[in-house]
Amino acid sequence: MSLAIALLASEATPLSKTGGLADVAGALTECLHAAGHDARLFTPGYASIDRTRFPARPLPALQNVPLAVGPHQYVFSVSEVRLPGGGAPAYLIECPALYGRGTLYTTDPDEHLRFLAFTRAALLSCARLGWAPQIVHCNDWHTAFGPLLLQTQFAHEEAFRRTRTVLTIHNIGYQGVFGAASLADLGLGEQSHLLHQDDLRAGYINPLRHGILYANALTTVSPTHAREICTEEYGMGLQDSLRMRERDLTGILNGVDYTVWDPRCDEHLPRHFDEQHLDVKTDLKRQFLARMGFTTLASVPLAGIVSRLAVQKGFDLMFDVLPRVLETRELSLMVLGTGEDRYERFFDTLAARFPGRVIFRHGYDDALAHWIEAVSDLFLMPSRYEPCGLNQMYSLRYGTVPVVRRTGGLADSVEHFDPGAGTGTGIVFNDFDPPALHWALSTALDWHAQRPLWQQMVRNGMAKDFSWTRQTEQYLQIYRRLSGE
Ligand code: ADP
Ligand code: GLC
Repeated sequence: MSLAIALLASEATPLSKTGGLADVAGALTECLHAAGHDARLFTPGYASIDRTRFPARPLPALQNVPLAVGPHQYVFSVSEVRLPGGGAPAYLIECPALYGRGTLYTTDPDEHLRFLAFTRAALLSCARLGWAPQIVHCNDWHTAFGPLLLQTQFAHEEAFRRTRTVLTIHNIGYQGVFGAASLADLGLGEQSHLLHQDDLRAGYINPLRHGILYANALTTVSPTHAREICTEEYGMGLQDSLRMRERDLTGILNGVDYTVWDPRCDEHLPRHFDEQHLDVKTDLKRQFLARMGFTTLASVPLAGIVSRLAVQKGFDLMFDVLPRVLETRELSLMVLGTGEDRYERFFDTLAARFPGRVIFRHGYDDALAHWIEAVSDLFLMPSRYEPCGLNQMYSLRYGTVPVVRRTGGLADSVEHFDPGAGTGTGIVFNDFDPPALHWALSTALDWHAQRPLWQQMVRNGMAKDFSWTRQTEQYLQIYRRLSGE
């Protein structure tokens, strides 16, 4: 039985991206579409979307639609783009006043309005099109008011008579909190009692919390993280609400889009490889080292980092570990990322201290991210918390050994190598402290020096399959259960 599914996401590859949410939103929509479902993705029509590469067709029924968000008035239009993979439809909510800014996310005072407007515009579009999704699948805080809006302002819309809702929490560290003084922006009027009253009394409104309270089903992006967020340590203040909904919460590990992230066909690489042709990986590494200005030989292990430079990713552990390891061991390091100043300064300083051995590229660069996955020997992700993480799964496919902390999706996708049995795919450490990271890096370098061991670990990783087919089926099971199909 084919389902009609509206997916709402604040970013989606290949249109817009700051992190993994984009990869997931794009790939899940494509997979649902390929499986024969009527899946339609709604996403903001940001100014940064390349309109030449992704030509958008205005939907005649949805041009210059007035939109009231509390006391604020906007006008939006919708245009349709076909996703390049399999032609799944993506609807861009065009509203330059809200999405025509320099970055996808901002610290502007109307940030909550930008995404409330987006959520309302997406729902209004379904109603206007007379399209009745059985499932509205919201993602993260940006669209977390979807379920409550459907139960209040949209409760009488014919299109949503049978609609059930799913909220996926990709990153509980971002909750979209805004001041209770903006209560009127929600336009709930007499139904404001449906808001979380303790938060309101404390002076704020937490969008993510309302998604947790009102969605029919909740998911997060790995089984381990689903358990973690119900605890004080990882719940980021939402653990009580999550525990109340524990029975409705499922952890589904993200998949990998192997049409994009696979060294056998990666469009950013001039040559391709698989586990039989690791010499090509070494040739590419040689090319890369020369191009980036490394002075080390290809035989020296290269560690890679591609990341948002945020506290979540565990950089604090590196402050004294990386200089110590670089001083005492043969190792080079390639870092690509952008984010918090203190981490940017740290990597700038490290690069200055170890010229030719540490290179820091500040910024966002998709092609470079693919190269780093392809040519590194190890990939560092010592995250403080990691709902799923995609780079470690990409690394495995590229024969790049992940060094990760045992948390969230890292714990569910990387198995610590056992040199005796020859099983396992990476180096996994437990405690979030510098000695543990130091141990992990030293172990990685010791094993790298033992070629047969290393090659075994590389081959084990390359044989892993995290493709979306299996994970899409898990989402479908939830959709079917909710819609009674
Ligand atoms: P998160 O969503 O928390 O940032 P994930 O590991 O799930 O972490 O996904 C990150 C995605 O963003 C990966 O596809 C990664 O390659 C990409 N990425 C992160 N930072 C950069 C960057 N500076 N340049 C290019 N790609 C990046
Ligand atoms: C998030 C998480 C990351 C996850 C991604 C996609 O931003 O930090 O772990 O892989 O969303 O679900």
